[in-house]
Amino acid sequence: MNDFDWAAMADLLELEGEAHSPYVRQAFEELGHLTPRRILDVGSGPGVAACRLAAAFPQAEVTAVDGTPELLARAEERAARLGVRLRTRVAEFPAGLAGLGPADLVWSGQVVHHVGDQQGALDRLAGLLAPGGVLAIVEGGLQERRLPRDLGFGRPGLEARVDAAMAARFARMRDGLPDSVAVVEDWPGMLRAAGLTDVRSRTFLVDRPAPLAEEHRRFVRRSLERQRTGLGEFLDAEDLTTLDRLLDPAAPEGVDRRADLFLLTAKTVHFGRRPGH
Ligand SMILES: C[S@@+](CC[C@H](N)C(=O)[O-])C[C@H]1O[C@@H](n2cnc3c(N)ncnc32)[C@H](O)[C@@H]1O
Repeated sequence: MNDFDWAAMADLLELEGEAHSPYVRQAFEELGHLTPRRILDVGSGPGVAACRLAAAFPQAEVTAVDGTPELLARAEERAARLGVRLRTRVAEFPAGLAGLGPADLVWSGQVVHHVGDQQGALDRLAGLLAPGGVLAIVEGGLQERRLPRDLGFGRPGLEARVDAAMAARFARMRDGLPDSVAVVEDWPGMLRAAGLTDVRSRTFLVDRPAPLAEEHRRFVRRSLERQRTGLGEFLDAEDLTTLDRLLDPAAPEGVDRRADLFLLTAKTVHFGRRPGH
């Protein structure tokens, strides 16, 4: 796969899926005119979106597909807890995608950028569609904002510097992927190159103002912990100290206690349709 330990990220991915659910709900509203019989969520992780798909399209057979069996076990538990019908399938991308189709709807959230050959991955995803079927991929959008620019300590503007550090780490991650191919990341153009029509992009807001519900506060803590561990070499000592202070459970100004945490982000979903009836 790549250098991510996806299984270890199960809690974070689940908390993120819940925190970001407003964008998924809005994106599914765009698909409300469809009556799909077979749906694939490719790179489903712990199945937050897959379970929503199963609830939104109860007549459909929904399959969560992922390379990490531990995450699919989470998806199964979640489906049982919510009382929705969900199948799971372990598959490594891109090779393991062969034979998963045909599907009337393929959803793939924040996955294609983890595959070395992104155009090749889109070609394969498009190839899973039945004639008239729809592919929806989540790529791009805006980085999250969770903290005031001035925290009352440290150098103001921490999150802008975290964004830059994430971009540097992302570039290194992409360079290290097997068969990594550089491509202009023009997602609509890439969907067209994969043979899809009626291509459009919509961006949806996730706007959770302060005060944050406890579960979303937990998400902010987990994502800052991950950034503290993963971005150590990309941030300066002062910013690392600020992150440590934010993550100190005993600190009144830390993320567990401060009242001014919020969650603001935007996610872009690119839709395309396979020509046919
Ligand atoms: C960032 S998570 C996205 C999870 C979910 N779709 C979402 O939007 O929150 C990426 C998921 O893709 C899976 N994945 C990444 N690269 C993969 C590969 N090469 N083969 C199979 N699964 C892969 C990981 O196991 C993980 O669950």
